Amino acid sequence: SARPDLLVVGAGFFGLTVAERCATELGLRVVVIDRRSHLGGNAYSEVDPETGVEVHKYGAHLFHTSNEKVWEYVNRFTAFTDYKHRVFGKYQGQVYSLPMNLGLINQFFGKSHTPQEARELIAGQASEIATEDATNLEEKAVSLIGRPLYEAFIKGYTAKQWQTDPTELSADIITRLPVRYTFENRWFSDTHEGLPVDGYTAWLTRMAEHPNIEVRLETDFFAPGHDYSAETVKGTLPIVYTGPVDEYFDHREGRLSWRTVDLEESVEDVDDFQGTGVVNYNDQEVPFTRIIEFKHFHPERVKTHLPGKTVIVHEYSRFAEEGDEPYYPINTAEDRATLLRYRELAQAEPMVLFGGRLGTYQYLDMHMAIGSALSMFENRLRPHFGEGAPLT
Ligand code: FAD
Ligand code: NA
Repeated sequence: SARPDLLVVGAGFFGLTVAERCATELGLRVVVIDRRSHLGGNAYSEVDPETGVEVHKYGAHLFHTSNEKVWEYVNRFTAFTDYKHRVFGKYQGQVYSLPMNLGLINQFFGKSHTPQEARELIAGQASEIATEDATNLEEKAVSLIGRPLYEAFIKGYTAKQWQTDPTELSADIITRLPVRYTFENRWFSDTHEGLPVDGYTAWLTRMAEHPNIEVRLETDFFAPGHDYSAETVKGTLPIVYTGPVDEYFDHREGRLSWRTVDLEESVEDVDDFQGTGVVNYNDQEVPFTRIIEFKHFHPERVKTHLPGKTVIVHEYSRFAEEGDEPYYPINTAEDRATLLRYRELAQAEPMVLFGGRLGTYQYLDMHMAIGSALSMFENRLRPHFGEGAPLT
């Protein structure tokens, strides 16, 4: 096959958005490689053949955005359901509605409060420590929401997320801990929210459908011996790289640290396991952080779900070791210093642009990954391919 105009490493939302724009707008021939056996990156999902339930293979993915350009763009490839995300939290045998709100406060303190009474209650409890005096995450949280809510809804969950006692975590891991003095319990407050009507993989597959786009799976950029291996193509072809930035440079400046999540999937012999999509487990002695029950993301599909069965996933959070899926950047002071050195190397790397959550070491929601890819297209790729500007 003839040489492509552009190589994209990584078939996640970032890579596919770049590929689609370059093919559709500029008529470029684009090859997208991914080392996994499927496209879609972490947004990939598949229908469980036994139960008919769509399972998000790398953790629950809820789409939401207030960015009108992104909303218009994604609607070219999929329609969205009117799903609105809500999260509940279990603590000492009770289930509360999150994020922390007036309903939770009334239930937790065992009496009704007006919004004003609740504000005064929490402000009084938070006055124990001044926020500017907080020296660790625990003190910071207590200074924002008071000790009772902290101990129930933040302490155990945070300790499990980080495998570290909150008194040993940095205060700047949290900037705010919003408490809503209303009964509003929608998790996201964006203008647009919903789930793709026929699933994430159908959406992602349509993004790659342009005849100028070729997707090659099970193809690792760093593995030798194929047409698009790093050793063969570096410096000969424009490349958009969305893999881990430290891996690109052989970890020569050190490893960036990540948290991962172990996902334990099971089919349960009940029609409904927990009555909702996501339940957080706030008790520290419960080893998992959340249980996801996927069928609740698509109540409109009830007729295609096998009655009497449901698919759930227990999530366990921990530090990522070599070989684990990197999910959330830890972003210690050392990571930030390391990242600056990689950014300089990336800037200087000829004919390669770095993007996406792994290429920039940033947690990006889907709409942010797509928005950032649209910007790379407009600001770097279109000027390069359209007007001959250098690719830097
Ligand atoms: P990715 O999806 O990670 O894609 C990168 C791709 O590059 C991968 O497929 C990888 O295999 C490939 N790759 C890497 N190195 C190589 C190599 N050497 N050779 C070939 N291929 C390579 N966002 C939301 O908006 N809502 C949510 O509810 C939400 N939930 C999330 C839950 C979890 C647990 C996680 C981790 C993320 C969640 N996100 C959510 C974020 C969402 O997953 C990201 O926005 C999205 O994955 C970013 O796309 P990307 O293309 O940058 O990266
Ligand atoms: Na570069």
